Amino acid sequence: MASQTQVIINLCFWALLFVMAQGGYAGEVVEYPALTRCRAHTASVTDFGAVGDGKTSNTKAFQAAVAHLAQYSSDGGSLLYVPAGRWLTGPFNLTSAFTLFLHRDAVILASQDINEWRVIDPLPSYGRGRDKAGGRYTSLIMGTNLTDVILTGDNGTIDGQGEFWWQKFRKNQLKYTRGYLVELMYTDQILISNLTFLNSTNWNIHPVYSSNIIVKGITILAPVHSPNTDGINPDSCSNVLIENNYIVSGDDCIAIKSGWDEYGIAFGMPSEHIVIKRLTCISPTSAAIAVGSEMSGGVRNVRAEDITAINTESGVRLKTAIGRGDYIKDIYVRGMNLNTMKWVFWMTGNYKSHP
Ligand SMILES: *[C@@H]1O[C@H](CO)[C@@H](O)[C@H](O)[C@H]1NC(C)=O
Ligand SMILES: *[C@@H]1O[C@H](CO)[C@@H](O)[C@H](O)[C@H]1NC(C)=O
Ligand SMILES: *[C@@H]1O[C@H](CO)[C@@H](O)[C@H](O)[C@H]1NC(C)=O
Ligand SMILES: *[C@@H]1O[C@H](CO)[C@@H](O)[C@H](O)[C@H]1NC(C)=O
Ligand SMILES: *[C@@H]1O[C@H](CO)[C@@H](O)[C@H](O)[C@H]1NC(C)=O
Repeated sequence: MASQTQVIINLCFWALLFVMAQGGYAGEVVEYPALTRCRAHTASVTDFGAVGDGKTSNTKAFQAAVAHLAQYSSDGGSLLYVPAGRWLTGPFNLTSAFTLFLHRDAVILASQDINEWRVIDPLPSYGRGRDKAGGRYTSLIMGTNLTDVILTGDNGTIDGQGEFWWQKFRKNQLKYTRGYLVELMYTDQILISNLTFLNSTNWNIHPVYSSNIIVKGITILAPVHSPNTDGINPDSCSNVLIENNYIVSGDDCIAIKSGWDEYGIAFGMPSEHIVIKRLTCISPTSAAIAVGSEMSGGVRNVRAEDITAINTESGVRLKTAIGRGDYIKDIYVRGMNLNTMKWVFWMTGNYKSHP
């Protein structure tokens, strides 16, 4: 119980969290009132029968915990604590006014039982899965239509055990598009901080159709030749602050997106007002900061500052394709420290891959 009390105290000390508002560097800063709030209710996954032995499936425990805590969304909010241990689980959903907090020695391990990964509809702005036509596997940690979601911890780990998925993807054995580690759709007020993301199945962090997002102090690690292990991909999102992160990956460290061809054009939701600061990136076949290639809802007002790229193919790359529509504009970059690069700046209007 001592550690849980400590957690609550730490959360209460989050005095001020800021994000750049519309206008970027020179704009006013806006406080997130919801993120400074303490949560009134706390529970541990062990209260729901979870076993941290790395073997027992805890899918039901995580799902039951969130279902129970959802009742507090409009009653002071809740925190779900994940203690030290290796917690194997299939995908589970989050709720509003909710914090998931991982102990420093807590590891959430993604299930390799494909039957646990339910197939869900494609994103409306993509029209189909990116790897395969049709639906897609759900993400490991998923939220839809939420307000005020925090994923944090004392540098605990979320491990996608990606090798299982990468092999199947390379051999073309998957029927659907791989899920992501974290996907938050239609969510306002998101904080993801102080965690390590390992060996993601596909992209690591995917906020989509969401706003007021901070991703801060995280480590993302995946083999540099793993397929599509992008770091942080804001997709049709606004007011995003990404700072103090360290990313080693097989694809772009940050990729700003907004939907794919006719589906993205019809959905028409841009990514805008995005600030990226103090990023360290290692990505030998991709970019530190990418825009696209899916950008059919438009991308504007992106500011990047104090970026260190090491053994990375491009510093900044802008990718689009014929038929993709819309615009990329107002991209400002300064303070790039580039080591062992192929291209500082790379643009293409012929990045293939169409739905
Ligand atoms: C999680 O939410 C998604 C989107 O609403 C839904 O399709 C899926 O069935 C939910 N998964 C679980 C395990 O409840
Ligand atoms: C999310 O909200 C949209 C629009 O309000 C609604 O159509 C959709 O059914 C909701 N999805 C879930 C999973 O609650
Ligand atoms: C968090 O853990 C990762 C992986 O062990 C490590 O590389 C990183 O330095 C740690 N971050 C902090 C802030 O301790
Ligand atoms: C990540 O995946 C690679 C490739 O399968 C593996 O060698 C490595 O041990 C994994 N990392 C961890 C910490 O499990
Ligand atoms: C992250 O961890 C640092 C160092 O322990 C702590 O000072 C900070 O309050 C935490 N921040 C967030 C946003 O979780």
